[in-house]
Amino acid sequence: MLRRLHEEQPRSFSFTRENKVWAETQIKKYPAGREASAIIPLLWRAQEQEGWLTRPAIEYVADLLGMAYMRALEVATFYFMFHLKPVGNIAHIQVCGTLSCMLCGAEDLISVCKDKIAPNPHQLSEDGKFSWEEVECLGACSNAPMVQIGKDYFEDLTQESIGQIIDNLSAGEIPTPGPQNGRFASEPKDGLTSLMENESGRTKFNGSVQMAEDFKDTIKRINGTEAELVTPWLQSSGKKTSQLRMKKPKTFKSPRKSVPEDLSNLLGLGEKAKIELNNLGVYHSSQISKWDSDEIHWVHSNSSGSLSLNKLKSFVEQAKKLQTNKDG
Ligand code: FES
Repeated sequence: MLRRLHEEQPRSFSFTRENKVWAETQIKKYPAGREASAIIPLLWRAQEQEGWLTRPAIEYVADLLGMAYMRALEVATFYFMFHLKPVGNIAHIQVCGTLSCMLCGAEDLISVCKDKIAPNPHQLSEDGKFSWEEVECLGACSNAPMVQIGKDYFEDLTQESIGQIIDNLSAGEIPTPGPQNGRFASEPKDGLTSLMENESGRTKFNGSVQMAEDFKDTIKRINGTEAELVTPWLQSSGKKTSQLRMKKPKTFKSPRKSVPEDLSNLLGLGEKAKIELNNLGVYHSSQISKWDSDEIHWVHSNSSGSLSLNKLKSFVEQAKKLQTNKDG
């Protein structure tokens, strides 16, 4: 599909002050001379601020990163996640039309979009609230058919459920993303047949849906005042608290008596996780056993991503039992 910049463009673009601060934080993640690596998050942020990606926004981001405009244009025009035309002011619905989704009913979803939004892709609905398009595989084939709206995936859809989602969005609600047929993730429809031991300790929704529920920013225009919300590491700089509550747990500079405990006593805690925890100042199961939910979120946010919330919750439960056995 030919992806071109829209024929009508605004004169200029600049990040809000808060988004600029956020962008500078992103750029610092990369070594000097490699600033261009931040191109995708910055373009995405520009899109979140305005709803779609304008030429001035692409050039503004290129300037921030010291890149040739052409290089930034290559990225913006390559990825379907970047909207190069104005989209609905509430939501732009990207319907996957590749094999699995097509076999499972993508055409039904498209017919709902045509009825409820507009007959043609990229055409705004009459009230300007919505637009839609068909895109290539979004990598959620085991939950076909599905659509992407903003950051979130809505999966296992039917004509009824996509219609309901559009109605809810139109009414100002933010529907819960993820599977819409009651599945937790992509397990068999009749329930799990293996890996069942974690079922009891899991969150209400699967990892991505739980985060989406916590953030609720699927359709929000991000102006940067949410900077702390999406860059939790800024918390340590004393900025305002975020909506996602986090608290730093008690950590140590070194293990007690210089001897770290063998944390691999905790089921699922491998060598990599142990190193991660040690780097954060966690050496003993007695520390882990005291974590509350806010502290678990802090550890999760400050790890490289390998320590999922579910894993951390399970470590806390196991550590509590260990402590009870020791005390008893
Ligand atoms: S075919 Fe639709 S997500 Fe892969």
